[in-house]
Amino acid sequence: MCGIFGIVVEREQPLGQILTEAGQRLSYRGYDSVGCATLSGNGTIDLRKDVGKVDEVATRLNFGAMSGQRGIVQLRWATFGAPSQVNAQPHLDSDGDLVGAHNGNVVNNIELRQQFIAEGMTVRSTNDGESCIHAVERYVDRGYGMVEAIRSAYQDLEGDYAFIIGRAGEKQLYAFKKGSGLVVGIADGATCVSSDLPSILPLTRRILRVQDGEIVILWADHVELRRVEDGSLIEREVEEIAESMESVRKGGYAHFMLKEIHEQPQAAAELFHLLEASRHVAPMVERMAQARHLYLIGCGTSYHACLLGSVYLARLAGRAAVPVLAPQFIAQYGSAIGEEDVGLFVSQSGETKDVLNAMEIARQHGMGVLGLVNVPGSTLMNESERYLPLACGYEISVPATKTFMNQGLAFLYLALRMGGHATDVLARLPNLLEETIATVDPQLGPAEQALADRQDMYYLGYGATYGIALEGALKLKEITYAHCEGILSTEFKHGPLSAVQEGYPIVFVVGPEDVSLLVSAINETTTRGGRAIVIGEKNPRLRANAHDMIILPQAGPLLSPLLAVVPLQLLAYRLSLARGYDPDFPRNLSKTLTVD
Ligand code: G6P
Repeated sequence: MCGIFGIVVEREQPLGQILTEAGQRLSYRGYDSVGCATLSGNGTIDLRKDVGKVDEVATRLNFGAMSGQRGIVQLRWATFGAPSQVNAQPHLDSDGDLVGAHNGNVVNNIELRQQFIAEGMTVRSTNDGESCIHAVERYVDRGYGMVEAIRSAYQDLEGDYAFIIGRAGEKQLYAFKKGSGLVVGIADGATCVSSDLPSILPLTRRILRVQDGEIVILWADHVELRRVEDGSLIEREVEEIAESMESVRKGGYAHFMLKEIHEQPQAAAELFHLLEASRHVAPMVERMAQARHLYLIGCGTSYHACLLGSVYLARLAGRAAVPVLAPQFIAQYGSAIGEEDVGLFVSQSGETKDVLNAMEIARQHGMGVLGLVNVPGSTLMNESERYLPLACGYEISVPATKTFMNQGLAFLYLALRMGGHATDVLARLPNLLEETIATVDPQLGPAEQALADRQDMYYLGYGATYGIALEGALKLKEITYAHCEGILSTEFKHGPLSAVQEGYPIVFVVGPEDVSLLVSAINETTTRGGRAIVIGEKNPRLRANAHDMIILPQAGPLLSPLLAVVPLQLLAYRLSLARGYDPDFPRNLSKTLTVD
């Protein structure tokens, strides 16, 4: 998830400092490279960009010396295309008259680049932000005015993105949006536009929110909003932001964890679109399909995604895949692995030492090394033979939420492709996630009460929901400091059942195909006084056997496990708050464990 910011002032002035500070405020989103462009009154464009942190690149390239009447800063979060100077943004068009930067993903980037090259344009990078600029250039070259050119470019650019562009010799900046966020700020003698509010607020609290399918034209003293569809003007009231900076940084949510839970529908939509257009999926699927043994390797939450992934791959593609915790991979399989085997290493951070150690061993044995990773430029991303990005943007809260969702989505996508199935079932996921968040929240009260003072409890799942039960239990452990064990429902009777007495709570995560089996497991506990809290799709038998039921939207066996994790995330969040803890930064834990 990149960050963009653009500013327009009355006349030429030093802009380097303002742009650097805006870049610093965007940096919480995560990034690997930084770039600044200024457009001066005399028609020249100064562009400076490179890989690195804002302060370091700003000092090295002397952003402080940049001046102009308009400026753009961009922080890049690499999805595809290595973090490199040439892939850093902003980008110029062929003649250096247009400059622009984007946030998001243009999913038909490869086809567009081929078209631009065939049309004689100078394409310098593999970054999809450059396609945005050439898409506008294409129509400017045909004699269109900027707004008309942008309206046409918008039709050519597929994906979820927001883009800021300026033209030499003019006085204004333009921005447009399809999917990704875009906000305008109106200050005295200046206007600005950005992918997010925190970068604008120190300059002004008067804002306009841009919607999908809208173009904004910024002059120093006013802005204009127009519809892409027909170019018509849009009237919109200016909003005054009263919230504190901290609350704005959290998107109005009380904690990053809650914000990130609510970002899941959007993150899932973006990853799905990205995978649909990705040329990396087919070779990755082939490599996994041809492996003698396929291992799915991760730690913590990422390991739980591997458990789910293993179920998807077996069910949909007939592919046996061994989910294994990274250190155990070495201990258990170190002497059994060879060149014909493939490891898919799964990690939000791409830096977990346990995972990197396992990757190193796999490499020493000549195994194929694939990655599923969120953080661009991470060791796993750089050192795997091939990877898929999770495209979630920066996840700040220590308990992983949206990255787990997209790991599960990516596994389901890979399994569908490997099995030769259509992938459109996943197109429903974003809306189903929205619906889940909206409908489960009001249902959580009884479960919350039942678990409120417990210091130990069990979460049970089966088949695809086994990994979900483990993930729900991990969320609870991480942020409530209580003990919560996730286990296979059928194992409960082999030992843990002895813990059950009057009122002992047990959470059952039930997939739509496993109702009969789970009803037996529920009764084994309730007949002994246990309190059964059931998460599943609407079902009279479940309802009749559960004490408390949290009903999920009807989604079927493939998507239901992904929805089921949402109430578990929300439950852990609420219980953490009830105990007076900070769910974002639990004691003793770290987001990225770079030690053995
Ligand atoms: C740490 C974090 C967990 C995370 C695990 C794996 O233990 O606290 O939340 O699931 O590392 O992290 P990774 O970045 O490899 O997915």
